[in-house]
Amino acid sequence: MWAFLDGEFVQEKERLVQLENRGLTFADGLFEVIRTLEGRILFFEDHYSRMKKSAEFFNIEMRFPSEEARRIAVELVKRNGIEDGELYIELTRGTDPHRDHRYPPKETRSTFFMLALPLRKIDSTSWRDGVKLLTYPDLRHGLCEHKTINLLPNVLAKNFAYARGGYEALMFRESNGKKYATEGGSSNYFFVKDGVFYTPEVDNILSGITRGKVISLVEDLGYEVVEKRIALEEFFNAEEVFLASTVSRVMPVRAIDDVSFEVCGKHTAKVMRAYEDLFF
Ligand code: PDD
Repeated sequence: MWAFLDGEFVQEKERLVQLENRGLTFADGLFEVIRTLEGRILFFEDHYSRMKKSAEFFNIEMRFPSEEARRIAVELVKRNGIEDGELYIELTRGTDPHRDHRYPPKETRSTFFMLALPLRKIDSTSWRDGVKLLTYPDLRHGLCEHKTINLLPNVLAKNFAYARGGYEALMFRESNGKKYATEGGSSNYFFVKDGVFYTPEVDNILSGITRGKVISLVEDLGYEVVEKRIALEEFFNAEEVFLASTVSRVMPVRAIDDVSFEVCGKHTAKVMRAYEDLFF
């Protein structure tokens, strides 16, 4: 399999990243996961401009303009013969031999790489039967609007869910003794109550590309979408729940902890159908 690293296409044995890379020592970097479908790359500009905005925020050099990055991505997907797959992009602050928290000297180049991988396996019955979520505290930092490679709390939350037969975690933060839903380890959430769609507002959570597409689509279908701070118990009292992410697309939820929901209720079914028809 080919990868793209800092300006060239390389094979496995040539993938040389220094051990002192700040991505490894400080998780000082950003990433994107982009879906490919029949060799096409979906929503590339949306993902790349999210990375660019965060790179500006953290002052990390973005080495390739969007058009060039897209050309590289197309070539990589083609070289690896990927039809339905995932394009992974990572950008770090580069290699710093002294492992100093201080930003490295100006001449230090950022590290940029792309992988094009086959789609991870998800049991296709999940879209029919729904998936289970387990609630777990959101232990992350205050920079969750950025897609940083600092993912240890997400890994913890998701593995808490996996160990209990779940598909994802539903993370929450506590404020004044009340629990508020945030997002999943790698997905955003929606619920439906009385024909209205609700989703946590973007307040220290990732503004998912899929979340954005779903909001527009749900509004186009004539529904109201409310983005607000959402108490965990509002999720428990929902009629239908679903998650949204690049890899899971629109995925119905059958249970959160021990509370069950109607799977693919009429509103969720409409959104799933519309999302698939539009983009897949
Ligand atoms: N994760 N929230 C978090 C914390 C995420 O990591 C992701 C994406 C999402 C959904 O965002 P989008 O619709 O842009 O994919 C929400 C990717 C898929 C991953 O880590 O594999």
